[in-house]
Formats: sequence, structure tokens, C-alpha cells
Amino acid sequence: MTGPAVEKRIIVKNLKIFPPLALAPMVGLSHTAMRSLVQEQGGVGLLFTEMLAARSLPDENERHSPLLIRSATEKPLFYQLFLNEIDQVEPAVRQLLKFDAHGIDLNLGCPAPKLRKQGAGCYLVRDHKHLSAVVARLRKATDLPLSAKIRLGDQLDTVALASLCRMLEGEGIDLLTVHGRLHGEKFCRKPRWDWIGKVKDMVSIPVLANGGIFSVEDARICLRMSQADGLMVGRGAAWRPWLLADIGREIYGIPDSCTRVGREQVYFRFIELLTERFPRERRLGRLKQFTHYFAGTYTFGHHLATAVQTSDSVEQAAGRAKEFFDQPSC
Ligand SMILES: Cc1cc2nc3c(=O)[nH]c(=O)nc-3n(C[C@H](O)[C@H](O)[C@H](O)COP(=O)(O)O)c2cc1C
Repeated sequence: MTGPAVEKRIIVKNLKIFPPLALAPMVGLSHTAMRSLVQEQGGVGLLFTEMLAARSLPDENERHSPLLIRSATEKPLFYQLFLNEIDQVEPAVRQLLKFDAHGIDLNLGCPAPKLRKQGAGCYLVRDHKHLSAVVARLRKATDLPLSAKIRLGDQLDTVALASLCRMLEGEGIDLLTVHGRLHGEKFCRKPRWDWIGKVKDMVSIPVLANGGIFSVEDARICLRMSQADGLMVGRGAAWRPWLLADIGREIYGIPDSCTRVGREQVYFRFIELLTERFPRERRLGRLKQFTHYFAGTYTFGHHLATAVQTSDSVEQAAGRAKEFFDQPSC
């Protein structure tokens, strides 16, 4: 990278995003405990919630719904919506304003069956006319920064992709995240960072590149290939919650914001955050999902993953994790 780090900040409306590194929206992972864990490690300029159904939001309670629980220190925080109906827009936005959202993200990339049934996520992209009306309504409903998260499309098609991205920009989207895969592509396929570069040339709003960033080197290559304004990291941050701090330090010159601690302490800090933020019955599932990724940094991590997966309580899982960490060869 060239140029002083400060030039790399992203500005959307009045919001400065620096470093230009975001933690991705991920169902079951990007909740308050994970967001705080990653933020404590440092290097995060933008946080996202996991996707939220616009149609249910008006009936949900910020203090009780596990998807909405958050702490005041998580900022800036964009709430990600999935929706299909134009009429769902305003009630959802009104609710997000009450929650003091710093921005709103529209999920236009997720191909999950749950979203297919509702015509949301990547299925909303199939009808540009309808999508453009949805985005226009969103823009009318709020002055908050608006972002959208897309994949590359049903197939590689520069014209279709340009038409989508320019329409989103034209309707008032301020920031675009591009996950460099087609709608039908699995996560094991290498993301097409060069195609994110094509999007970068199609629009003048900032672009975040997403997909397959698991190391500082991946981040460097992705930025070089895509010329994106910043990065969004998903699974890599569950695997190594300090990854954004590493990228922030090595690429953007951000000094470490906390004393680096061992992996074991990071894991127990996550349990502490889960315990602080969630009612008892909401903790174990989240610990299992996080451990699935976190265990991947250990040579014998499958032992840790299995020990936690088969636990009946967070206390049992924590005890088994401690036994695992105490083994010299873990
Ligand atoms: C468990 C899981 C849940 C996800 N949930 C969402 C979601 O709620 N909204 C969304 O836009 N993308 C979601 N994604 C996709 C991620 O945001 C991201 O685009 C994808 O994981 C690729 O980035 P990565 O390689 O850095 O993980 C999810 C991915 C995973 C693995």
C-alpha cells in the first residue's frame, strides 16, 4: 500500500470509517459478544449485525431479542436488513432509529433457502425495478448512511453487474460491500477479487471487498487485486479474533490497542462476554458456533471442537476447553 494511512479512511455521510476494516454480518456469529471481542482486539472500523428480518423488527425488543442485544461501545454499528416488501421498509427503519443505529445495510447477497422463500437477499436482485423502489424508499426513510452487500450475480456478467451497482448508487446507497462469489458458489471456491475491482470501476461510492481473507497476506493481495477502499472480514475473524488488528497494524499502521494476550485468554474472554450479554439459554449454541471456527487455529483443534460440541452447558464446555488448552501439544 502507498500513501499515509489516514488517506485510507472511508467517509460515508458524516461517518468516518477508519481503519476501513469491517466485521461481516454473520448469522449466529456477529452478535454483541463477538463484535465486542473483535473490537477489543482492535483494527475494526465498522461493525455489522447479523441479518435481521425487516418484517419482524417492529415487534422486537432491543433488550430481549438476542439478535438485537448490544453494548454502547459497539460503534459504528450498521444493522443489516433482509426484506422484500416496500411496506416493510419504513416500520423497520423507524425501529432501527430507536435503537440508535449508525447505519443500515441491505442484504442483497445471501442465497440461503430461508431468504429464497421470502424473495429477499440475492433473490431481491432479480427484479431491478422492484429493488430500485425498495432502495429509494429506504433512502427516503432515513438520512443515516446506507450500505448494501452483494455477490457478483447469478453468472459473470459485467453489464448486469454494472447495471445493479449503478442503480444502487443512483438510488442513494453510500457504501457497497462486494462478496466476490456468484450467488450459487460455495465458500470453498476461491473468491474473485479481480471482479470486485471491476465493481470499483463501475461506481464512485466506496467499495469494501469481502470473501476469503484469512491472513494479512490475503488482505494485501485482495486490496491489490480489487483496489477496494477497504475490507470486510467474516469467518477469518471467528477463526482469529485478532486478524483485523493484525491487518490494521500491518497495512494501515494502527498501533495495537490492547496488550496481546494468548489464544486461550481470547477464548475465555468470549465466554465472559457471552455470559455478560446473553441469558443462560442463549449462550451455549453461540459458543459452539464460534468454537467451530476458533478451534481451526490449533493443530488438534478438532478435539476442542468436539469437546465443546458435545457439552451440555457453557460451564462444562469451558472446563473441557481448559483441559484442552492445558495439554502441551494442543
Ligand atoms: C455462519 C455465516 C453466517 C452468515 N450470515 C450472513 C448474514 O447474516 N448476512 C450476510 O450478508 N452475509 C452472511 N454471511 C456471509 C458473510 O458475511 C461473508 O460474506 C462470507 O462469509 C464471506 O466472507 P469470509 O470469507 O470473510 O467469511 C454469513 C456467513 C457465514 C459463514
